[in-house]
Amino acid sequence: MLVSGSAGIGKTALVREIHKHLVRREQFETVPHKYFISGKFDQSQRNIPYSALTGAFRKLVRQILDKSETQIEQWRKKIMEAAGPCGQTIIQVVPEAEAIIGPQPELQELPPAESQNRFLLTLQKFIRIFYQPEHPLVIFLDDLQRADPATLKLTEQIVTDENIQSLFLIGAYCEDEVSKGHPLKLALDALQKHGTIINHISLSPLKLKDIEQLVTDTLPQFPVSIAELAFQKTGGNPFFVSQFLQTLFNTKDSDLTAKSLQAKCYHFPDNIKELMEWKLKKLPEETLQTLRLAACLGSPFDLNTLAVIDKKSASEIFEHLRPAIAEGFVEPAGDSEIPESLKHQTSNIKHQASNIKHQTSNIKHQTSNIKHQTSNIKHQTSSIKQNFCLCMTVSRKQFMR
Ligand SMILES: Nc1ncnc2c1ncn2[C@@H]1O[C@H](COP(=O)(O)OP(=O)(O)O)[C@@H](O)[C@H]1O
Ligand SMILES: [Mg+2]
Repeated sequence: MLVSGSAGIGKTALVREIHKHLVRREQFETVPHKYFISGKFDQSQRNIPYSALTGAFRKLVRQILDKSETQIEQWRKKIMEAAGPCGQTIIQVVPEAEAIIGPQPELQELPPAESQNRFLLTLQKFIRIFYQPEHPLVIFLDDLQRADPATLKLTEQIVTDENIQSLFLIGAYCEDEVSKGHPLKLALDALQKHGTIINHISLSPLKLKDIEQLVTDTLPQFPVSIAELAFQKTGGNPFFVSQFLQTLFNTKDSDLTAKSLQAKCYHFPDNIKELMEWKLKKLPEETLQTLRLAACLGSPFDLNTLAVIDKKSASEIFEHLRPAIAEGFVEPAGDSEIPESLKHQTSNIKHQASNIKHQTSNIKHQTSNIKHQTSNIKHQTSSIKQNFCLCMTVSRKQFMR
C-alpha cells in the first residue's frame, strides 16, 4: 500500500495510527507473534544502500535477541537454512545477526554481477523467514522518495515474489518530490507493468470543519473562529496548522478574543518554510549550534555521539536541545536517549502530566455532574411552572364557579 501527499500532510501520522489499529485488532490478536517494523529514508544516508530497510531489520533482530534461548535457537536454524553458505552476507547488512548465528565463513569471490545476485537472493531469503502465516510481518518504509536505487530494486523483488504471503508492505512518499523520471516513479511503473496491484491513499489537506474540531478539542480557550484564520494561513496542511496554533498558544497572551489573536497572526509567515525559519531564529545560539551538528548525524541521532562531537556532556547537550524539543524540532526517541541525570526530571514531568490528566478528568466529571444537576433543576422548574399553571387554571375555574 502506498500513502502519498505533500510534506506535513500526515502520511507518517496515518501509518502510526494504522500500526496502533493493527496491534489492537482482535483477529490479529489471535496471531501471537506478529511484527511491525519501520525504516525511514534519510537525506544524510542516501549514499548508504538499503539503510532504511536494514535499519528496520536490525531492530527486528534485536527484538529476537531478547527472546528465550529456545526461541533464539529456532531463529538460528531458520536463518542458517535461508542463508546457506552466505551467512556472512547477512552479517554484513544486519551485524546483530552474528549474535544469533555466530561467526560465518568468508564469502567465495565472485564476479561483480554474480556477487550482486548472490547478495540480493540471500537478503530476500533472509527477509522471507520473517513473514510467515504464524508470524505476519508489516514493513513500513517512510519517505520512499529518498530511497536509494538498490533498495527500490530489492523492494521490487520482494513485492513480486511469488511466495509472498503474510507480508504487508506500506510505503509513504512525498508527491511533490517525485516527478516523472524519478527512480521511485520508474520502480512503481515497473511494478504496475508486472501486474502488481498496489493500493494507494493520497492524502488531502484538512478542511475548515476539521480544523474547527481540532481547535475545540485541543484549545477550548480559543474562539473557534480562529480555525478560519488557521485555514486561510495554512491551506489546511496539518503540520502547518499545528505549528500555527502552537505558536499562537505560546504567545501566552491573556487576551484571547478573535480580534486580538487575528492581530497577532498578522505577522506570521505565510508558508511552512518561512514559519520554520522564523521559529528557528528565535532559538538560543547554543541550541542552533547543537542542531547544526545533530543535522550532520542525520535522523535519528544519538545523544552520546553528539556529545562526543560537541565535546560536551550528554546532560549539557540535552539542555541545549531542550528549547528545540519544546518547539518540536527534535523528538526524544525514548528513555534510552535521555541522560541518567535527566531521567528523574522526565519522570517527574510525566508524573505531573498524569496528575493534570487526572484532575482534568475530575473536572470533566464534575462539569458533567453540574450539567446533570442543571438539567434536573430545569426539569423541576418546568414541573413547578406546569403545576403553577395547573393551580392557576384550577383556581381560575374555582373562581369562575
Ligand atoms: N489528520 C490530522 N489531524 C491533526 N493533526 C495531524 C493530522 N495528520 C497529521 N497531523 C499532524 O501533522 C504533523 C505532520 O504529520 P506527518 O505525519 O509527520 O506528515 P508527513 O509524514 O506527511 O510529512 C504531525 O504533527 C501530525 O501529528
Ligand atoms: Mg513523514
